[in-house]
Amino acid sequence: MTAHRKTPASEPGALSATLAELRRVAALPLERGETLPPAAYTSPEMYTRETERIFGREWLCVARAEEIPEPGSYLRLDVLGVPLVITRDEEGELHALSRVCRHRFMDVLPPETTPEQGSLKRLTCPYHTWTYRLNGQHVGRLAGAPLMRDVEFDNASCRLPAHPVEVWNGFVLLNLDPDAEPPAPELEGLDRVLRGHGLEDWVSVETKNWRDIPANWKVAVENGSENYHHMGTHAATLEPVLPGRDTRVDECDGRWFTMFTPYSAEAVAAAAPDGEPSRGRPDRDGETGPANGRDGQDPPGMLIAGIFPQFVLAVVPDSAVWIRWMPTGPTTHDTRITVMVPPDAPRTPDFDNYLVRLREQITLIQEEDLVAIRGVQRGLASDPPPSGGRFSHLERPLWQFQRYLAERLL
Ligand code: FES
Ligand SMILES: [Fe+2]
Repeated sequence: MTAHRKTPASEPGALSATLAELRRVAALPLERGETLPPAAYTSPEMYTRETERIFGREWLCVARAEEIPEPGSYLRLDVLGVPLVITRDEEGELHALSRVCRHRFMDVLPPETTPEQGSLKRLTCPYHTWTYRLNGQHVGRLAGAPLMRDVEFDNASCRLPAHPVEVWNGFVLLNLDPDAEPPAPELEGLDRVLRGHGLEDWVSVETKNWRDIPANWKVAVENGSENYHHMGTHAATLEPVLPGRDTRVDECDGRWFTMFTPYSAEAVAAAAPDGEPSRGRPDRDGETGPANGRDGQDPPGMLIAGIFPQFVLAVVPDSAVWIRWMPTGPTTHDTRITVMVPPDAPRTPDFDNYLVRLREQITLIQEEDLVAIRGVQRGLASDPPPSGGRFSHLERPLWQFQRYLAERLL
């Protein structure tokens, strides 16, 4: 008996079959929602289409503005293989410049010899010392190129390309498309949800990176877009505190989604003034934390806000975690997780111990998630490929994600 084999993901015609399947599942109502075909998570052609039509055109959340705090500050980052540096000019404006020198294309801030963050007056390429300006309207312009007088060279037109960059709720959004429309209108509704948290003033206290995780980026995004898996993946960590089944998923559409999980009664009791401290308790000082959901009406809990294609934010009363996923190939991606706290939090007693515990929790929970993320990718790559996976109502954001993908990719 021979096993049924589907067209391998990279054969001619395979991409159109995958896109046809995307079209079909994206048209299903949630009640009959199905998973994407496995080739959507393994095919190099699909990945190329995603990088061109999504990552090359969409506003991507890449950093926090306070990571580039002052005039002269810089932050190096690579987005889909594009080497970039975010700088802040003397007016306080951010710029996203290419790090590719216009002489012979050296990385002007090579990771081998320069820190990821720091402060600079000008950018000097370490290869032949061409120097670029970082101030205001002249940002990226060549300031000097030694020994170039004896050749015909127009240094006035030599400039590092810049990409559009915006700050939204303290997050740095970047677009690889130089003609991108501003991101604000499509995020307006999410602004209303987040209003009141004052996230633009929150401070980052911890960032951790996981590189080249062996899974397609969408596996990670989907994992981060539902709390259904608390009962399995995080059975001993998150589930007792934030039971996945109590999650209220909002009926969103388009690029962003929200959901809210209240703390369990046990977690709230454990955080009462005489209660024992417990992992993930609602707040640090043993008092009931502020309501942190929508409109100030929710009990203490965790608000999740996601923006496709690569950002999820989880806000609890005394901290927030945001995750940035970035594909590095058809079946690999990077994950960067940052913990933020309200501006006064670092001055509260016992903050250092709180931070140590928080750091341990983030690592533990991410390691739990990685078991699922790697395991799902192994399942998707199995032969014959699986098919017909179904969604629970708690997986509405994944169903919405399919519509987002269909709109961009078809
Ligand atoms: S490559 Fe940068 S100065 Fe030569
Ligand atoms: Fe998780």
